[in-house]
Amino acid sequence: MNELVIRQPDDWHVHLRDGAMLTAVALFTARQCRRAIVMPNLVPPVATVAEALSYRDRILAAVPAQFQFHPLMTLYLTEQTTVAELAAAALNPFIHAVKLYPAGATTNSDRGVRDPLSIDPLLAELERSGLPLLVHGEVVDASVDIFDREAQFIERVLTPILVRFPNLKLVMEHITTTDAVNFVLEQSEQVAATITAHHLLYNRNAMLVGGIRPHYYCLPVLKRESHRQALLTAATSGNPKFFMGTDSAPHTQANKESACGCAGAFTAYAALELYTEAFDQAGQLAQLEVFTSLNGPRFYGLAPNETRIRLIRQTQRVPEFFPTRDTERLIPLRAGETLAWQAELIG
Ligand code: NCD
Ligand code: ZN
Repeated sequence: MNELVIRQPDDWHVHLRDGAMLTAVALFTARQCRRAIVMPNLVPPVATVAEALSYRDRILAAVPAQFQFHPLMTLYLTEQTTVAELAAAALNPFIHAVKLYPAGATTNSDRGVRDPLSIDPLLAELERSGLPLLVHGEVVDASVDIFDREAQFIERVLTPILVRFPNLKLVMEHITTTDAVNFVLEQSEQVAATITAHHLLYNRNAMLVGGIRPHYYCLPVLKRESHRQALLTAATSGNPKFFMGTDSAPHTQANKESACGCAGAFTAYAALELYTEAFDQAGQLAQLEVFTSLNGPRFYGLAPNETRIRLIRQTQRVPEFFPTRDTERLIPLRAGETLAWQAELIG
């Protein structure tokens, strides 16, 4: 198959940032995705309904006028979040989820929750309202090996939470392990997962063999090949529990190429091309649309997009960098290499 047409996708997990970086990246998501669940890990975090609405305005102002793009806003759960704020969020038409970051787990997570097992009143409210809880699923315990942090989170945190709140609508974000795939499969239909393109395409060798490659460093960190295979099987299975969430997470070149580089891969410039490549390599192009464009809206109770996007098998070169307004450079994943597909919005 050298060409396919699918419904326009949505990105169910993306970092658009703010200021100069928002201006630099917003168009990339908007030109491929009709909607996107926008992560709230700004500094300071997007923690209230009012902050989410004002962030939404800044995003809309940064998106070029020719795109029909709807940012779906999220609130960052902090230790100060109140039940009343979550109740207001659930009633707000622009807010679609709440994000739980274990404090210290990833970029800008220090305002997150130190003990996710100590926020029962908040979880009870989410279970009551049906507003989805999006979870960064890694423990932060210094004694746990970084490659085991997702599996440990399932055992120590997610399992007890779902026992206590069996009707909580929950998305385990950017899953990276066989353990997470199996866990999500065992839960009710209220529990789903997003999978990034980079975790479908790469294992940890991409980051560590032949030199340390900071643009492949993201959290949760890339795992071994057997886990990548499990993710590919899940993503291409058609199971409604698994859907697209790029976790595109732009950082400046200086912040990535550093003695202590930031976690996050910038993939939004070619999100759909990268997913298409992964599905093509698995011989599963026929399952692409279900994953990118149908399962997500179904979980969030939204209609799938009616607009279409065409994918053509055509090699294109990835730029070495994208400029930002303040002269910092943004290095995309696969900079200077090639993509095997080209996406084009039909409308
Ligand atoms: C994300 C970021 O940079 O905001 N980084 C990442 O490696 N994925 C945060 C996150 O989603 O963990
Ligand atoms: Zn993320």
